[in-house]
Amino acid sequence: MHYQFDWEKYSDIARQAAAEGCVLLKNDNNTLPINKGETVSVFGRIQFDYYYSGTGSGGMVNPPYVVSILDALKASGDITINQELLSVYEAWTKENPFDMGKGWAQEPWCQKEMPLTKELVDKASRQSDIAVVIIGRTAGEDKDNSAEKGSYLLSNEEDKMLELVCGTFSRVVVLLNVGNVIDMEWTVKYNPQAILYVWQGGCEGGNGVCDILTGKSNPSGKLVDTIACNILDYPAIDNFGDSERNYYKEDIYVGYRYFETAAKEKVRYPFGYGLSYTTFEYFSDSYKVIEDTINFNVTVTNTGNVPGKQVIQVYVCPPQGLLGKPVRNLVRFAKTELLKPGESETISFKVLLKELASYDDSGLTNNKSCYVLEEGLYEIYVGFDVRNTSLAGSYTLEKLMVIEELQEALAPTHTFNRLKPSQDINGSYNMTEEEVPIRTINLKERLNYKGSSVDSFTDDKGYKLKDVYEEKVSLPGFLGQLTDHDLVCMSRGEGMCSPKVTPGTAGAFGGITDKLKYFGIPAACCADGPSGIRMDDGSKAFSLPNGTALACSFNVDLIEKLFEMVGMELRKNKVDTILGPGMNIHRCVLNGRNFEYFSEDPYVTGKIAAAELKGMHKYGATGTIKHFACNNQEFKRTEIDSIVSERALREIYLKGFEIAVKEGGAYSVMTSYGAINGIWTAGNFDLLNTVLRSEWKFNGIVMTDWWAKMNDEGGPASSQNTAAMIRAQNDLFMVTANPEANSNQDNAEEELKKGNISRGQLVRNALNICGFVLNSPAMKRFIGEEQNWSELNAYKERESIENIIESGIVKEQLELEVSNIKTEKSSSVIFDIKTPQKGEYSIKFKMKSDAGEVSQMPLSIFINNHIIETITINGTNGKVIEREVNFYAATNINNYIKLYFGESGIEIIEAKVCKNF
Ligand code: BGC
Repeated sequence: MHYQFDWEKYSDIARQAAAEGCVLLKNDNNTLPINKGETVSVFGRIQFDYYYSGTGSGGMVNPPYVVSILDALKASGDITINQELLSVYEAWTKENPFDMGKGWAQEPWCQKEMPLTKELVDKASRQSDIAVVIIGRTAGEDKDNSAEKGSYLLSNEEDKMLELVCGTFSRVVVLLNVGNVIDMEWTVKYNPQAILYVWQGGCEGGNGVCDILTGKSNPSGKLVDTIACNILDYPAIDNFGDSERNYYKEDIYVGYRYFETAAKEKVRYPFGYGLSYTTFEYFSDSYKVIEDTINFNVTVTNTGNVPGKQVIQVYVCPPQGLLGKPVRNLVRFAKTELLKPGESETISFKVLLKELASYDDSGLTNNKSCYVLEEGLYEIYVGFDVRNTSLAGSYTLEKLMVIEELQEALAPTHTFNRLKPSQDINGSYNMTEEEVPIRTINLKERLNYKGSSVDSFTDDKGYKLKDVYEEKVSLPGFLGQLTDHDLVCMSRGEGMCSPKVTPGTAGAFGGITDKLKYFGIPAACCADGPSGIRMDDGSKAFSLPNGTALACSFNVDLIEKLFEMVGMELRKNKVDTILGPGMNIHRCVLNGRNFEYFSEDPYVTGKIAAAELKGMHKYGATGTIKHFACNNQEFKRTEIDSIVSERALREIYLKGFEIAVKEGGAYSVMTSYGAINGIWTAGNFDLLNTVLRSEWKFNGIVMTDWWAKMNDEGGPASSQNTAAMIRAQNDLFMVTANPEANSNQDNAEEELKKGNISRGQLVRNALNICGFVLNSPAMKRFIGEEQNWSELNAYKERESIENIIESGIVKEQLELEVSNIKTEKSSSVIFDIKTPQKGEYSIKFKMKSDAGEVSQMPLSIFINNHIIETITINGTNGKVIEREVNFYAATNINNYIKLYFGESGIEIIEAKVCKNF
């Protein structure tokens, strides 16, 4: 088999995805599109500093190029840019360069904005037809947004900019190049004519936005989150940001489920909303309930003047019953093809009654721990957003039906009150409260489960994993040859940047010790992250639109196509699984990693994730769905405990993952950093066994987040307690520097000796890991069966001109001059040294960093253009640490040592080259 990887096709699909992810919220008097030949004044420094991604692991892709909005407007040829204004900005940004801060989680949320004068704006308005104002924000891993100016709110300069531009121009378009929804009070204050959320669009982001601005593409994106009038209106806001535990008091009433039920007036833009340059009408017909399925058609017609796409959304309004329910729950969506003016498309929908069920975690219906359909009227609404819908039909259930009997799992042990709607005499709903049911089962009994019964040790019988691949021996038979020590080693991943796999990636697992390799187990490779392949040695990879942007497209076919390309790119780079999609729910608008995640709605989340997985699976690579579950805040993320009801877990926080497993065929999961109801997820038996594996029939691998903590209930959390992880069937601890030597000093072997974990549990987990490896491209590479690849339209890497620092001869040791080197993200420096004798040398570094304890700062060391190693350090709390890499050099030659910094934040105190002989 021969694969051909076409970069141009990749760019085209990504460009379309970036365009379809843009959401047009306002377009008075057809302000957009910009007409051919018009002159545009572009305001805002972000025209030069386009945010193609958020920060942290999900934003550390090294793209070969990034097209900013300004680049794309300039290249479009259809419009003219106001050059005079542009030069003013150019001069100012030269004096006021982009501020990267100190690196990992220490980049400012927004950049200083150029102050405008009335004269400048007046002049620009006389010189042009329309103003485009770009507002930019970043946020990301380890750094939430805050309800402050320059983060969720506009900075003073941005506010002033909008005031002046909107007060002067009669046509103003505001572009929001942001990861999270931001405050939009300014829409009322300054009333710009058009507003477009453009998110962070990856390499092709600017092109996608430009296509929308110039009308090459017609906007078809829809909001995946409700935009409330005020931040205090969001139901989770009071219970976000704690340093120990957050009570999920809003329960299942997240986003539109809350607003549409009890606070409609607090919504500025509803969920699912988004305008087009054309108009659409729709009607539904053929509504029929046949046995357990509701069937109906929706016909959409383009009634305007330009071609466009529309998203039909289907919501259910269930009866309140005893449990109480949101008045709108998204159950289906579909995007039309590009419809020409006058053209129609009919889409058939089938909704299974069981999909309308609610989870009874309290026993109020006498069916505790069951999904039930309570008796009463179920109405099906269709429309183009959650607010503007019409009734397609209804279904009356005479008697309560139990849909699925499950068992209590993950219930809280703290009592608190959660929201529940109650109807007043006018028929509207107010939120009242009820006490959350707490745990009734004995968790200790569940934990007695001992794992695989195939657990005897047979000694080496000469089987290699290839024999399992070729079905000559069973996998349990093969694993019988592994000692307890081998099995414990297999529970450890290696990284970051393991030399056993693709340079600069997050980790390796499987055959990561000599002994495991001897048994023919290859090392599988995983790399960040949701928006492209992160390789910290500086290798280039495609950067995709962020998760929120992709979800706003509501176009699962397009996303699947895009992720076919990702699948190929993974394969080409010898990466078996990408560490994504990130699919936590947008519980709070301030969560720093919302940009990586999809939506406030679990159905959209699950569907988009499933589409990504299906795309990658076509090329044999996969994604690791993360962070399972409730990674809903970055502040104190390794400490925070989410106190949440079982119902909210099942209906909201786990639902998307369930869809990704059942429909997307996910076979790799990453647990989160924090705890759910007192038990850290990486060692949470109920989460991983009772729900994921037993109920959902998941049989892939589960890995921890990097250096995550585990605990025994009631006990402290620590990265060393991998016994808790092994017991819970979280197969892999990610990551350790040296799995064989137990560099993490975990307690697995000690707890095995004490009988607190069993060989059976280790074998069970090894079955999962080897099962993954057997199905992965790693196995094919190992046995020489990997496909051939060729590339079409590959981009040419632009050579960077780096300064070479002449450093002299290494006699015994040579100090490199590091006091003035740049260590900012993506910078590199080259030292020229001479080695008079051949042999092994080492470079000894002393370095430090002020960043947080699980921050990631990679430093790659190349000798003569070959990567030797990527060292990733975490924050050192200001303490100086030492690291060493070895290399071999020939006699009397010039050697070039290149240091490449994948992220800012490292301070090199000293670097010495030493002769090791
Ligand atoms: C992040 C994960 C990421 C991992 C590896 C962690 O800090 O939370 O999402 O995949 O690092 O980089």
